[in-house]
Amino acid sequence: MTTSLWRQHVLPFTLLLGLLAVATLLGDYVLHRLNLVWVGRYLGIPGTLLIIVSLVYSLRKRKVIAAGNPKSLLNLHETGAWLGSLMVLLHAGIHFNAILPWLATIAMGVNVISGMVGKILLDRSRRHVQGQREHFQLRGMSRPEVEQSVFWDAVMLDVMTKWRKVHIPIFIVFAVLSLGHIISIFLFWGWI
Ligand code: HEM
Repeated sequence: MTTSLWRQHVLPFTLLLGLLAVATLLGDYVLHRLNLVWVGRYLGIPGTLLIIVSLVYSLRKRKVIAAGNPKSLLNLHETGAWLGSLMVLLHAGIHFNAILPWLATIAMGVNVISGMVGKILLDRSRRHVQGQREHFQLRGMSRPEVEQSVFWDAVMLDVMTKWRKVHIPIFIVFAVLSLGHIISIFLFWGWI
């Protein structure tokens, strides 16, 4: 029996993303219940720092730095960016006063999702579809029959590949918008 791409790969991905949403809502609720909304205001700082630290992986990948195990740095990137985003989401809370930080938050959301598609889904899904193809071929199916059988999985894979390409351009948008927000807040606080 072959299992679908959805059950084996897309579902766990959806759960991890859902966990981010649930943790944000729960955290926000707790902060409000305990009258700790001010904590959320400052969570933007550790959240941003965590995301910046997680970028060490990108420096290693592009050989800007030579030290560090790429696999552990990749783990750091995934975990750090996920946790950092959670903190920034808690920081954003449900307050709407300014448009710029919200645009930054939306860009961050797209960034996190595209990153998760790339890191969690793409490689495994590619192997999954390839495995399916080989499985059907071994069972003596003709080429068109094989392609027919993996059609929907192949379509989903194609969408994921495109989505993955969004990761770096949207990161730049996210970084510029965040920087605008952070600089304006620091000016307001008289920190710069
Ligand atoms: C050094 C990092 C950061 C600092 C110091 C900071 C600081 C602040 C401050 C002081 C506020 C106003 C809170 C209030 O209304 O009382 C705020 C709001 C907000 N920040 Fe940040 N922030 C940081 C990073 C980020 C990042 C990276 C994002 C998104 C990607 C973000 C998204 C938001 C959002 C959505 C709001 C709510 C805006 C509104 O009230 O409409 N912040 N931030």
